[in-house]
Amino acid sequence: MCVRRADSEAKKGLIAVITVIVIIAFAFAGYNFYRYPAMFRNLSDNSLSDSQVEEVRNEILSGSDIKVLVAYFSYTGTTGSIADAIREKTGGDLFEITPQNGYSNVYAESKSEIRGNERPALTDTVENMEEYDIVFVGYPVWWHATPAPINTFLESYDLTGKLIIPFCTSGGSDIDETMPTFLNSCDGLAVYGERRINGTSQLDAWLSELGLTGEIRQSQPKQEETAVQDTVPEAVQEESTKILELENLPAYNYQQQEIELDNQGQRIYGIAYIPDTENEKVPLVVCAHGLGGSYRSNEAYAEQLASHGIAAYCFDFRGGGGSRSDGDTTEMSVMTEVSDLEVIIEAAAEWNFVDENKIVLLGTSQGGITSAIAAARHTDEVSGLVLMYPAFLVSDAVHEQFDSIEEVPDSFRFNWITAGRPYVEDMWDYDVYEEIGNYTEKVLLMHGSADGIVPLSYSDRAAETYEDVEYYVIDGAGHGFSGSDFDEAVRYIFNYLQEIGII
Ligand SMILES: Cc1cc2nc3c(=O)[nH]c(=O)nc-3n(C[C@H](O)[C@H](O)[C@H](O)COP(=O)(O)O)c2cc1C
Repeated sequence: MCVRRADSEAKKGLIAVITVIVIIAFAFAGYNFYRYPAMFRNLSDNSLSDSQVEEVRNEILSGSDIKVLVAYFSYTGTTGSIADAIREKTGGDLFEITPQNGYSNVYAESKSEIRGNERPALTDTVENMEEYDIVFVGYPVWWHATPAPINTFLESYDLTGKLIIPFCTSGGSDIDETMPTFLNSCDGLAVYGERRINGTSQLDAWLSELGLTGEIRQSQPKQEETAVQDTVPEAVQEESTKILELENLPAYNYQQQEIELDNQGQRIYGIAYIPDTENEKVPLVVCAHGLGGSYRSNEAYAEQLASHGIAAYCFDFRGGGGSRSDGDTTEMSVMTEVSDLEVIIEAAAEWNFVDENKIVLLGTSQGGITSAIAAARHTDEVSGLVLMYPAFLVSDAVHEQFDSIEEVPDSFRFNWITAGRPYVEDMWDYDVYEEIGNYTEKVLLMHGSADGIVPLSYSDRAAETYEDVEYYVIDGAGHGFSGSDFDEAVRYIFNYLQEIGII
């Protein structure tokens, strides 16, 4: 009798465990279904093998008069600027991939297209596609996948025998995430050298790695080959009553070093870009990424800084979206990111290559609002503040999404990330403009006139709030600076760093 009761207890226990496992499995599947619309699609990859791609590539590159097409889809202009720069460097032709119907609710419509494996109709066709040998295909990462118009484009032509080179821009996702959906439309094609590009400064190195030589590549010295001048940063500072143009600043080689920090038992992962200055301490710019970004989001700025004698630290916020730091996006908020910056500012002052009196914060989008708050709380330690399209709208955005704080679920969709209650709670009653003005040193503020994510009015108001601010509206730039917009922003940054005596 006793034995039978024990048996039935064990059975009940087993059923309970199985039920919990099934619930967890469903929750996990549901989460991924939402976040990765391409995840449950049957994706095949029938593109050519590496050795076959190599054959196609050798054949094309050994020929003369190689013809290049740079085809791109761009929703807010970022990928378009990169495509244009590639066109210029390769001497190719440019083609914009434009969906006929456009997007009235881009987040919902793009996701449903990707999930449904749709092929939205395009407005134009490349009439002379057969003439091209190399086709660059550029796009923004959408939902960790390729936007559906890219699949329409790839499947609209016979691209056999051409070298297909994908490139993307994104808020942080790498191009690898998009390759399954890209390759799904590449049966029998030679796909080669894919790369996420977040600044035109990366283009020469990438094109050179691709082996695109002669006619189709303008030869530029690689970073390692840059002539290193003997001048050290102090020498620049002595001359710095007049502002030097970027090309007249001394050039440096630099190294990258992984540096991990601890914030409340959780890891912050980052990479420091350290100029070779023979052990002399250098200024440091801490580069804070935007929503869903990663330590790679601002690497193009870090490369520019380091190659001109200024160290940079690019990192993943905890739960910020990048995968190298600890924490989940549902635990992240603007304030947890401010706390990460505080840990970095304190630690960096002790790094042996850093001049602790020259620590500057640079933030893009959400990294902008966090940098602005951290600077206001650490006026003595922060010697400069560079804000690019800062997301001063976060408080308004969460109020727009929820009527009351009580209705906020444990996790919910916020733009392209899954956020959690802390994200809303920390910003619900917070007025950023009341705090940021406490930073009274000179601030550099930049915003694109065509920013489709953070309206310009948020920076207009910040410009009025700061006591001393240099404010540039970059004409035609979107949320993220690329191409000539990136170059313009870099120029402003170096002028500003000279004006405030950092270099
Ligand atoms: C609908 C939508 C989905 C997005 N999904 C992602 C994503 O999964 N990962 C990411 O890093 N960025 C994502 N982004 C950001 C864009 O990839 C990024 O801003 C890109 O540089 C924009 O390029 P464009 O200006 O050429 O459109 C998304 C943007 C939109 C509008």
